[in-house]
Amino acid sequence: MKALVGPDTHSSDGDGHGSEESGLCVKKMTDCQEGEGAKTPMELYERLSVQGDKVRSLKTAKAEKAEIDSAIQLLLKLKTDYKQVTGQDYKAGCPPSENMNVSDNGPAADGTGDEDSVDPWNVSTTNAKGVDYDKLIVRFGSTKIEKDLVDRIEKVSGQKPHRFLRRGIFFSHRDMHQVLDAYEKNKSFYLYTGRGPSSEAMHVGHLIPFIFTKWLQDVFDIPLVIQMTDDEKYLWKDLTLEECHRFTLENAKDIIACGFDVNKTFIFSDLEYMGASPEFYRNVVKIQKHVTFNQVKGIFGFTDSDCIGKICFPAIQAAPSFSNSFPQIFGGRKDVQCLIPCAIDQDPYFRMTRDVAPRIGYPKPALLHSTFFPALQGAQTKMSASDVNSSIFLTDTPKQIKNKINKHAFSGGKDTVEEHRKYGGNPEVDVSFMYLTFFLEDDEQLEKIRQDYSSGAILTGELKKILIETLQPMIAQHQERRKQVNEEIVKQFMTPRPLNFNL
Ligand code: TYM
Repeated sequence: MKALVGPDTHSSDGDGHGSEESGLCVKKMTDCQEGEGAKTPMELYERLSVQGDKVRSLKTAKAEKAEIDSAIQLLLKLKTDYKQVTGQDYKAGCPPSENMNVSDNGPAADGTGDEDSVDPWNVSTTNAKGVDYDKLIVRFGSTKIEKDLVDRIEKVSGQKPHRFLRRGIFFSHRDMHQVLDAYEKNKSFYLYTGRGPSSEAMHVGHLIPFIFTKWLQDVFDIPLVIQMTDDEKYLWKDLTLEECHRFTLENAKDIIACGFDVNKTFIFSDLEYMGASPEFYRNVVKIQKHVTFNQVKGIFGFTDSDCIGKICFPAIQAAPSFSNSFPQIFGGRKDVQCLIPCAIDQDPYFRMTRDVAPRIGYPKPALLHSTFFPALQGAQTKMSASDVNSSIFLTDTPKQIKNKINKHAFSGGKDTVEEHRKYGGNPEVDVSFMYLTFFLEDDEQLEKIRQDYSSGAILTGELKKILIETLQPMIAQHQERRKQVNEEIVKQFMTPRPLNFNL
């Protein structure tokens, strides 16, 4: 896709503004002339938004019929052009992003009529089996993690793939093959993940990306940066800055308790690091310059009444994807490849990041996406800290874990023991079974439980007991490790400093 952008619309700051690679144009609407030829998707989208507004205002002002008709004609022509270029119908408020066929991630469906809703703040579906992740891959324009990629990770790392990979819990990626190609040629990469500290206690679902990130750090022997978005939580929640920062320090203890290597890991609070690192802030500003309000509105659903802090925030979550945001670690290099493990709810931030990256002269971050650890009540939504009864917290006692599972974990079992024995249970909707797929290490044992539950040989109560006996020691061990993490250790992890690695 060639971007037809006149020289006057390029920035002259050497940022690579308007590069052909992303196919996205940041040309201002006022620069666009009606008679211009082929357009980039973003340019057409912006022209359509303006033209739609123009038609509306002409109608409201009861303008001459001929004038309205001609504006409508142009609107229709732009819609046809848009469909030709993107393969999709124009939808107000949904700008083209990387999931369009301009990207290197293949074609995408428009998602119209899709019942699943997945964004950084909300996950919901009407399906008891959970979100349809195959559809989500198509909608988001990412790539499924197929067996060949899992085998390749095993070959390159020399380690048995983590159970999250073996079982499709990390199910989607962007550019992981490219990361491995480079790694095989001795070009290493760094990991970036994060946490929005909205409360003192994290829940078990939050552990998923951190457990996996720790595994990646170990098997590839690479540096890691962890962003604590206390600024984000201040902007989105009814919390004070002090509370958000305190939650950062508390949550950092849970993250450290996952076993990260202090010599290879930098944890930072946005509230601290933004002010301490000019290089980080420079990248934030560069990103801000290359993303329009229309784009973030479309990606994140912001409205005119959202505070401007929210509108700018995505640039702050994007900035750690670029290695020169951390000169103390990468010595000013801007070309170190970044790999981001996270649940797929965070992908909108990184679609935006990947769109921007080539235009500011940086490599696009690669991603590994996980499915959601479901709420106790069922896979229609993810486990979320804002619903206490939906979650098992890392601070829960063995008794609380037992009670929550027995009382709230949605069962795929039948109504009576007789029926259950006769017809068996349904592990595909059973939350206890789903939780075991995340945490029971032994593949054969898990498969046996699946078969026994499906055949009715084991009852819901027995299945829950297996889960309780799996989670209680796991969380107790986490709490033990967390107790060892004192303020001094947190400070070590959070001090900007060189890390120990070979790139
Ligand atoms: P937050 O705090 O909502 O979530 C932290 C990480 O946990 C993942 N996650 C889950 N994974 C599986 N099952 C669940 N039920 C579940 N709930 C949350 C999230 O995807 C995330 O990976 N804005 C971010 C903080 C952030 C970040 C990042 C996350 C900043 N930079 C880079 C990932 C990568 C947030 O509020 O995450």
